[in-house]
Amino acid sequence: MSKRNIDTAFFGQPKGLSTLFFTEMWERFSYYGMRAILLFYMYYAVTKGGLGMNQVTAASVMSIYGSLVYLSNIVGGWLSDRLWGSRKTVFIGGVLIMIGHIVLSLPMGLVALYVSIALIVAGTGLLKPNVSDMVGGLYSANDRRRDAGFSMFVFGINLGSAIAPWAVPWAANGFGLHLFGNEMNFHAGFSLAAIGMFFGLVQYYIGGKKYLSDDSLMPTNPINHKGLVKVGKKTIIGLVVVAILLGILAIMGQLNINNIIGLITIVAILLPICCFWTMLRSPKVTKIEHSRVLAYIPLFIAAAIFWGIEESGSVVLALFAQDRTILHIGGWHFAAANFQTLNPLFIMILTPFFVRLWEHWKRQPSVPGKFAWGLVFAGLSYVWMAIPGTLYGTSGRVSPFWLVGSWFIVEIAEMLISPIGLSVTTKLAPNAYRSEMMSMWFLADAAGQAINSQIVKYYSASTEIPYFLVIGGVSILFGILMFFLVKRINVLMDGVH
Ligand code: PHE
Ligand code: ALA
Repeated sequence: MSKRNIDTAFFGQPKGLSTLFFTEMWERFSYYGMRAILLFYMYYAVTKGGLGMNQVTAASVMSIYGSLVYLSNIVGGWLSDRLWGSRKTVFIGGVLIMIGHIVLSLPMGLVALYVSIALIVAGTGLLKPNVSDMVGGLYSANDRRRDAGFSMFVFGINLGSAIAPWAVPWAANGFGLHLFGNEMNFHAGFSLAAIGMFFGLVQYYIGGKKYLSDDSLMPTNPINHKGLVKVGKKTIIGLVVVAILLGILAIMGQLNINNIIGLITIVAILLPICCFWTMLRSPKVTKIEHSRVLAYIPLFIAAAIFWGIEESGSVVLALFAQDRTILHIGGWHFAAANFQTLNPLFIMILTPFFVRLWEHWKRQPSVPGKFAWGLVFAGLSYVWMAIPGTLYGTSGRVSPFWLVGSWFIVEIAEMLISPIGLSVTTKLAPNAYRSEMMSMWFLADAAGQAINSQIVKYYSASTEIPYFLVIGGVSILFGILMFFLVKRINVLMDGVH
């Protein structure tokens, strides 16, 4: 290609990146904006505009919802590869997400909550893996702008995620105009999330036609009629099995939200185990690839533990913000939901620093070494949260700087695990299982949040000190264990770093 033909319209990157950047920015805006207020919406009393759910159940639902959102990407990846092509799959996903937020913006109680969760789980599964995949598709194999392109894309994710926890709670509070008196109107907040996704969709539709390649309109590995019938049959069998399981629970009088969450937890943990099993036993996987998949197992476990702690920020730390934190600095008042901005904000601040660090640090740790440090930092972010309760007791409120500090520490961990893990996942993937391996990266987050859905039940102000110490301690212990495994994992990775 001659220099003239290279598209550099978006900060030196192809114009299509701008389309995908803003699509994902708005999608994350809607998702994290909704999550910033959802927890409170679920457990606030009905008189305060909430659903009046029990707080423990609300926390558990938050986690399993987060898990499902990334579990569903397996289906989204499949539909795009085999049936619809990524361009259409992303659009359908975005529409489902927008409808999901609209449903919550209507005052329809619990039914709306569950319908919205189903729509957003399905929609995100269709959108998120494929929008990332299309970023990769913008570059030819030897285009050196690829890594920088992905970094910008991740910046878009975090930009949307950082603005939303200000904008959405602000809408829910009547835009600072006391529109809803002293009460919250959560539905106004969810409406803003829907509007955000709408902007993303319009922009995607117009930009997509102009700047995304026509290849993305076609499935990469189209399925034929016979294959489709086979998959259809399997799907029906699967659905029947689920229906029977639920039926049995119902007959035993056990069909309740806790048991359903328990079932999903089991699925989220078994699924990656099955994937590893399939890859390790497949004749299509060469000997070197086999060893690399083995190396990925400890990395996967570390990532799941890390994501478990990171994602608990929108549940456990959100509760700490609401119940245990002084919500003003001098005359400046803020909402508990605003704290959700800290995670993406610190990512944006820390990323340039870490990019430099990896460029210039000659004796930097290898990938498993970085993961080990990541677990230690993730654990420390929790141990840190045990300090205020120990110093001042767990009944009053403490300075917001405790939470700021915890998020700062966990984001150091995120720098050590998230970008590194994403890139090593692609490198360790066996040829025959490229897209499945990509899904594994999402499954690590899903597994972490599924485990969270069980353990967040033990969190309350009276248990916070042991809660933070035990979970933080477990993460640190796994980190230390990982240090001992670094050499072996590196050998198994067989030249990948
Ligand atoms: N915060 C990340 C994001 O929104 C969470 C995530 C990690 C999602 C890994 C998928 C995979 O992109
Ligand atoms: N931490 C969230 C993610 O990784 C915002 O992008």
